Amino acid sequence: MYKEVVGPALDFLDRHGILDSEDAHNLVKSGLHVAESHPLTLALLERFFAYRGIRFTDPRLKVCVGGLELESPVMVGAGWDKEGKCVRGLWQLGASTVTVGTVPEHPQYGNPRKRQFILAPGVALNRLGFNSPGMMAVDRNLERYQGSGIPIGVSLGKNKDVPVEDTSRAHAVVAKQLYHHAAYFEINVSSPNTPGLRQLQNKGPLTDIVQAVNQTMDEMGGRKPLAIKVVPDLTFQAVDDVIQVAIDNHVPIIIAANTTVNTDIKAKYGERWRSEAGGLSGDDPDFRRMSDRIIAHIFRQAGQQLDIIGVGGIKDDWTAMEKIMVGAKAVQVVTGLRGEGLSLPGSITRGLVNWINLRRDVKTINDFVGVSANHPTLMP
Ligand SMILES: Cc1cc2nc3c(=O)[nH]c(=O)nc-3n(C[C@H](O)[C@H](O)[C@H](O)COP(=O)(O)O)c2cc1C
Repeated sequence: MYKEVVGPALDFLDRHGILDSEDAHNLVKSGLHVAESHPLTLALLERFFAYRGIRFTDPRLKVCVGGLELESPVMVGAGWDKEGKCVRGLWQLGASTVTVGTVPEHPQYGNPRKRQFILAPGVALNRLGFNSPGMMAVDRNLERYQGSGIPIGVSLGKNKDVPVEDTSRAHAVVAKQLYHHAAYFEINVSSPNTPGLRQLQNKGPLTDIVQAVNQTMDEMGGRKPLAIKVVPDLTFQAVDDVIQVAIDNHVPIIIAANTTVNTDIKAKYGERWRSEAGGLSGDDPDFRRMSDRIIAHIFRQAGQQLDIIGVGGIKDDWTAMEKIMVGAKAVQVVTGLRGEGLSLPGSITRGLVNWINLRRDVKTINDFVGVSANHPTLMP
């Protein structure tokens, strides 16, 4: 129903300037927020999802990613719920956790609109630029999930106008403010939409940020799982630098990957997109392959020392399993929620159980991790 009617209708409205895809996204978020906010609608939501088999658990899906215990490997990635207002709703929809943000210190409008485009069904280009109500507002929003038992991730970012020399402090201050809500943190230096941000993936600045966040966690009561998120456009050599920073500084997780700025991939959807600023995401096979190649590379290089979260173009259990088989212990969905609908986390989770059931030699989802990391088609 969603793929045949709702999704195409939303695409049509966006294409004809009737309902911008960002506004549509905000409407959906508001609806989910309202639904999860009132006991009656929450009870209805829970009953409906239980009846449809959307939220369920299976012990064979349990994973531990860099010390983070999750009841399934299917997460909602950063960018869908930037404010932290729909965590319970997304959890009810089958996600084992939600990464909130990216959250900078201060409120920030982001780039001028229009800044989010649907290039084809399930394929998006965005240049939002860390639009956020800022860490204090996110702190207040997350208060309502205290004691819920839902693990929440926080993506740390910096405001656009923060000078390079203040970058590590800017990340650490958000970690400090949201420490008591977070089950894990992500360092996002891979968004293409904040000028100069991606240079922070270089060894020196990245080390400074990681060390500042680690120190803050030590001061606040102890380390929580920390992840560095990379871009899919990095060379393997640059990925190796990030791996080295992670290992040297006891960062247990790398997330691969953020959106791509690859102009050839953008131009597949029309020459006008080639030079359009922003990062492409979603159901593009070349984009998906870029992130799979990076995951496989990280797994081959450091699979014994680091855990990997795979993200990029996941739209069903097959594409989720692809990421797991090249080395990801868990996966995140973002654009797929628009392309496939909000039931995506639940349907992937169910699909992964089928994968386990089909194989006699497989006992848990973990048995699939990295089995095709050396697949020749993935080699550079
Ligand atoms: C509209 C939109 C906003 C995003 N915002 C963020 C963000 O704030 N922080 C971040 O780390 N990644 C952000 N991302 C990147 C996603 O988390 C993800 O890495 C990327 O979209 C690839 O996954 P996908 O193909 O499943 O969307 C955003 C993606 C989209 C589409």
